[in-house]
Amino acid sequence: MENFFAQPINIGNLKLKNRIFLAPLAGVSDIPFRRICQEFGAGLTYVEMLSANAVNYVNEKTLRMRARHPSEEILGVQVTGPTPEDLAKAVERLDQENFDTIDINMGCPVKKVVKANCGSAITKDTEYMSEVVAAVRAVTSKPLSTKFRIGFDRVNVEDSSLCSVKNNVEMFTIHGRTAQQNYSDAVDFAKIADGINAGKGYKSDVVTVGNGDIFDYQSALRMHEQTGCDAIMISRGSLGNPWIFREILQGKPVHPTVEEWLDVILRQLQYHEEHYGDNVPTTRMARKYFVWYAKGFPGCKTFRNQLQQVNSLKEARTLFKGFAATLPKTLVRYQGLSFKEAQHIKHGYDPKYDMDRKLDRGVGTECME
Ligand SMILES: Cc1cc2nc3c(=O)[nH]c(=O)nc-3n(C[C@H](O)[C@H](O)[C@H](O)COP(=O)(O)O)c2cc1C
Repeated sequence: MENFFAQPINIGNLKLKNRIFLAPLAGVSDIPFRRICQEFGAGLTYVEMLSANAVNYVNEKTLRMRARHPSEEILGVQVTGPTPEDLAKAVERLDQENFDTIDINMGCPVKKVVKANCGSAITKDTEYMSEVVAAVRAVTSKPLSTKFRIGFDRVNVEDSSLCSVKNNVEMFTIHGRTAQQNYSDAVDFAKIADGINAGKGYKSDVVTVGNGDIFDYQSALRMHEQTGCDAIMISRGSLGNPWIFREILQGKPVHPTVEEWLDVILRQLQYHEEHYGDNVPTTRMARKYFVWYAKGFPGCKTFRNQLQQVNSLKEARTLFKGFAATLPKTLVRYQGLSFKEAQHIKHGYDPKYDMDRKLDRGVGTECME
C-alpha cells in the first residue's frame, strides 16, 4: 500500500506533492532551514509567524522575514494580529506578495503575544474568533487556513474548527494541547479528532492537519490513525533532524551516516552564509541550529558548549568537521544514549531554551513589536 503521507493533496487550488508540512517556526523557519527541509521532502513550508502590526507598519525585520528563495516551489505565510481590522489590513498586503497560502495563527501561547490579544488569545471567544476569520477571508482568495490549539485554558476545539470552516477556510491545523499546557503534557489525539470531525461534518473537503509530538514515522502514523487527519505538521521533530521528512515519506527510519550528517550541516551553513553573510550577529542567531544538530551523540556536551560560543560560520564549520572526525564512521545518532537522555531530547523538550532571546526573533515574541 502506498505511504499515506507521500500522496499529493490540494489546499483549494494549491497542489501539494505530499502531506508532510514544516510548521511556521518563529526564529527557526528562515530561508536556510526551509531549503534544507524542502530538500528532504517537506511538502509545504512557512515563513516564521508575522505580526499584523509589523506588516502594516512596514517593519524592516519583517520585510526580510518575508523573502522567498528562488528554489522554493511552494511557500506559505502566517500572521497574527490584535484585531480583525489589523489582521485584514496585513493580509490584504500579504495577499499581493509571493506566497501561495496564508495562515492565521490562533495558537501562539507566548505571554507577550497573548497579552496583545494575538495568537491563542483569539480562540478564547468564539464570536470574536469568527469575526477574525471572516475579516481575513474577505480580503484574500488565496488558500486560507487557521492553526489553533485544542483550547486556551479550557477545551473548545470544536468551536475553533467550526469557526474556521463556517468562514470558508480551506485548511485548519490543530495542535493537540491547550495554550496553558507545556511540552511535558502529551498531545491529546482524541481532542484533535473531535476538532477534525466537527470541521469535516460541516465541510467534508476541508483539509485537516494534525500537529504535536511527531518525531518519527511511527508517531506520524499514530497521529493519522488516531485523529483521521489528512496531513501532518512537524515542528520540534525537525530541529536538528530534517531527515524526519525523508523518514516519513519512506515509511521507515533514516539513519544518516556521520558523513551525511556533516554534509547537511555544512550545506545549511552555506545557505546561511548566502542569505545572511558570515558575521557575528547572524552566527549567533544560527547557534541554536548548531546545538540541535549536535544532539544525539554520546559525550557531546563539551562540543555543544563550544558551539554556543562561536562567532563566525567559519569557526562553526571547523568545529563540526573536527567533531565529525572523532566519531566512528558507523555511529548511529541517538543510539547508545540512555533512555532518559533520549526522552529528554525528544519528548517534553522545549527548544526555546536553546535560543538566544536577545539576538533572536525568539518564539514569536519580538515579531509582536
Ligand atoms: C521554536 C518554536 C517556534 C514556534 N513558532 C511557531 C510559529 O511561528 N507559529 C506557529 O503556529 N507555531 C509555532 N510553534 C509551535 C509549533 O508549530 C507546534 O504547534 C508545537 O511545537 C507542537 O508541535 P511539536 O510537538 O511537533 O513541536 C513554535 C514552536 C517552537 C518549538
